[in-house]
Amino acid sequence: MEKISVKDARDESSIGSTFLMQGWVRTRRDSKAGFSFIEINDGSSQGNIQIIAEAALENYESEVRQLTAGCSISVEGEIKESGGRGQKTEMLAHKICIHGWADPENYPLQKKRHSMEKLREWAHLRPRTNTFGAVARVRNCICNSIHQFYQEQGFLYINTPVITASDCEGAGEMFQVTTMNLDELAKQKIENLNYRFDFFDKPSYLTVSGQLEAETYACALGKVYTFGPTFRAENSNTSRHLAEFWMIEPEVAFADLNDNMDLAEKFLKRIFSDALSKCSEDLEFFNERIDESKSLIERLTTIVDSEFVRLPYTEAVEILVKADVKFDYAVEWGIDLQSEHERYLTEQHFKKPVILFDYPKTIKPFYMYCNDDDKTVRAMDVLVPGVGEIIGGSQREHRLDVLESRMKDQDLDINEYWWYTDLRKYGTVPHAGFGLGLERAVQFVTSMSNIRDVIPFPRTPGNAEF
Ligand code: 4AD
Ligand code: MG
Repeated sequence: MEKISVKDARDESSIGSTFLMQGWVRTRRDSKAGFSFIEINDGSSQGNIQIIAEAALENYESEVRQLTAGCSISVEGEIKESGGRGQKTEMLAHKICIHGWADPENYPLQKKRHSMEKLREWAHLRPRTNTFGAVARVRNCICNSIHQFYQEQGFLYINTPVITASDCEGAGEMFQVTTMNLDELAKQKIENLNYRFDFFDKPSYLTVSGQLEAETYACALGKVYTFGPTFRAENSNTSRHLAEFWMIEPEVAFADLNDNMDLAEKFLKRIFSDALSKCSEDLEFFNERIDESKSLIERLTTIVDSEFVRLPYTEAVEILVKADVKFDYAVEWGIDLQSEHERYLTEQHFKKPVILFDYPKTIKPFYMYCNDDDKTVRAMDVLVPGVGEIIGGSQREHRLDVLESRMKDQDLDINEYWWYTDLRKYGTVPHAGFGLGLERAVQFVTSMSNIRDVIPFPRTPGNAEF
């Protein structure tokens, strides 16, 4: 028999046909008239479908009336027009087969609402809830539009290494990768490790960014992007940081910071508008049930239709200094803006996405293009309401002498980056790129307040369960 998803079965076009439908029970209600309503969901849509199970079913008393939340079933039946409110269709069951029971004494996802914190402890079961099903579908939609967007524009998708020896961001927040036996080493109490005995013959780490490698491909193939996992051992327990997250990093040759800003703005708008049109049912849910001001859809729609603010760091500092707000961290030219400052700018002052650019060179990594003032670099951060920084990027320093002097300033070993400086020796070109944090984008599109709830299995300090 032909299978049908709950999503398709909810559509009127399925009325009158007979199908096999499979999923997990959400609720069962028995009517006095001697039949039962069973709601099932299979993850294909936000809404469930109602199954009418009549007493004539051979296992009605023995099994159907024992069904509880979490049980898995297959149902053969006919899709009918539904008289009930909020649903166009329902299925009249001809046969119900139970695959797995879910002991109601122990199954964690009972009808009562659970806190996000509690659901994190059940990360293996939380995709069965409305919220996490919706997050998974929106995340999938965003990933799909990311690839579509770049593919349509002629970018090549490239894969950069997960294991690397270089610290792109220079922040030292790297997870070391080794095959050396740490217990043995601890016993030997040696002062200096001999990396000749390690797998890669030198200290190596999980990547914090694929940018440096992506630059090499951009400087040969023009337009490329990476989309992969990224790791940062920053010990920040915030609602916007993960130790393992996914990043999309486009890199374009023959491009400057303005081109980079244009690309970032167009890219974000595309993701948001795809989510609005392809995940309308789920966004409706986030709008009503998750967004505090119930204005998510309106916010996304406005952003898609309006221009982002573009503001030099120096002017942002002036705005912040004049702001009638008491910040925890005082603002002066040269500081790395804190999330409270970023959020003031995007949420209170401008009330829309803001691209800040031309940051002090002292707070930014070595690879950013140095402006003529010799004080700022061509860096950009895209800030959005509710999340803060969603994108970080820059025009790259393509002048060998300037790059080398920046590396010296930051105590980097130029020899270690020989391949990176080679790009500046042979056919160097202005180029630029940025990184979008996938989870921050999903947070923005769903209004989920904690980043741990927009990735299936979050990794944070002290948490690597599942
Ligand atoms: O600003 P970041 O550090 O920039 C880079 O890594 C550049 N190499 C990108 C490039 O130019 N190709 O990180 C980029 C984005 C941030 O704006 C943020 O959205 C996200 O990655 N991000 C994190 N997301 C979750 N958890 C963390 N710990 C994150 N750190 C950065
Ligand atoms: Mg950044």
